[in-house]
Amino acid sequence: MNLRALPGKISLKGKKVLLRVDWNVPLSSTFAPHESLKLERSFATIEDLLKRGATVALMTHLGRPKKYDARYSTEDLARLAHRMSDICINFLPGSLERPKELENIRVVLDKAKPGSVYLLENVRFLAGEETNKPALAKAMASLADIFINDAFASCHRAHTSVVGVARQLPAYAGASLIAEVEALGYLLAKPKRPYIAIIGGMKLSTKMQVLEELLNTADEVLIGGAMAHPFFQAKNYRIGKSFSEKISSAAIKKMLKRGNLVLPKDVLAAPALKAGAAAHCVAPNKVGVREIIGDIGTGTMMDWATRIKKAKTIVWNGPVGVAEIPTFAHGSLFLARAIAARSQGSAFGVVGGGDTLPLVMQSGMSEWIDHISTGGGAMLEFLANKGKLPGLLALKDKGGVK
Ligand code: 3PG
Repeated sequence: MNLRALPGKISLKGKKVLLRVDWNVPLSSTFAPHESLKLERSFATIEDLLKRGATVALMTHLGRPKKYDARYSTEDLARLAHRMSDICINFLPGSLERPKELENIRVVLDKAKPGSVYLLENVRFLAGEETNKPALAKAMASLADIFINDAFASCHRAHTSVVGVARQLPAYAGASLIAEVEALGYLLAKPKRPYIAIIGGMKLSTKMQVLEELLNTADEVLIGGAMAHPFFQAKNYRIGKSFSEKISSAAIKKMLKRGNLVLPKDVLAAPALKAGAAAHCVAPNKVGVREIIGDIGTGTMMDWATRIKKAKTIVWNGPVGVAEIPTFAHGSLFLARAIAARSQGSAFGVVGGGDTLPLVMQSGMSEWIDHISTGGGAMLEFLANKGKLPGLLALKDKGGVK
């Protein structure tokens, strides 16, 4: 999909730009590096707009509140972004659904000195956000001359701040959105082969669609984590006390018949999922009745290393073990390192997903990986739906400056 970037030569003096970012990050005092990626990636877009003389109004969601809730206010985010970037980012409170408050916001933006940046309140406080309400789209559009979407991680949401407003203003894609679409688009276009996809995580139901698609497009799909357990059960393997989601056995059996689905050869099982538990590697059909599977085993690491070594394109989403417990993080850390070792030359390596990024950062090798996607659900839906995400479709064929 060809997304239009704001043309390089256009001056934005006197123009107001509404910039949708995805700064949906956990706001804790121990803000970890992987969580800052989403913010860091927006700073270049903001700086570019400021250099051109624009006034920038930023919009993001934070969490999933259904109405105003102080715990999810973006006020702290403004401070955090300011600290991280050195860009002076002012918090501009108020509801875009209340005429007086909307007017106040408009007045502040109209009077702002060119080169000012404001962060609006959490868009998820707005009743019309998730329903893509036209009146809210108009209210958002009334604040600016141009809309830019730089929020790849939100592009699977047909919400007003992603879709509706893009139809009301000249709309463009921001630099980090374009980089995401280019990198993930490579996986859809003509990935160099062999192309290996590795999918982990807890819930198979949330990844069935992407799995089906990857089984069609990738040469091999390696499955780890609790996602593999319904497949083990369909093969009549005992999985002890391990978590396993109930999935239609017909769908599982159909996938198992595909020649390119690869399950772990062995797993790390233990009597309990806790640090220092007496874990041992065992074939997946030999897990003890009182044991729990916590990770892929060393035999699987050897097997997958051989496959990854041959691959020219690799994508990974989802931990393959209970990685928050160090004893069961080895499989996921191994993957991060193996993909990093093959990236930037031998293969094109892409990693994404909210639970996967901390592991990549923990591996210390994130810089070697070709592309780290900030999208969790958005990345999976991009791959499952041939790149057709509502937020991207809304930007297609748009453009021009008022
Ligand atoms: C994410 O963290 O994946 C995005 O910010 C989307 O958040 P959402 O699932 O609440 O829409």
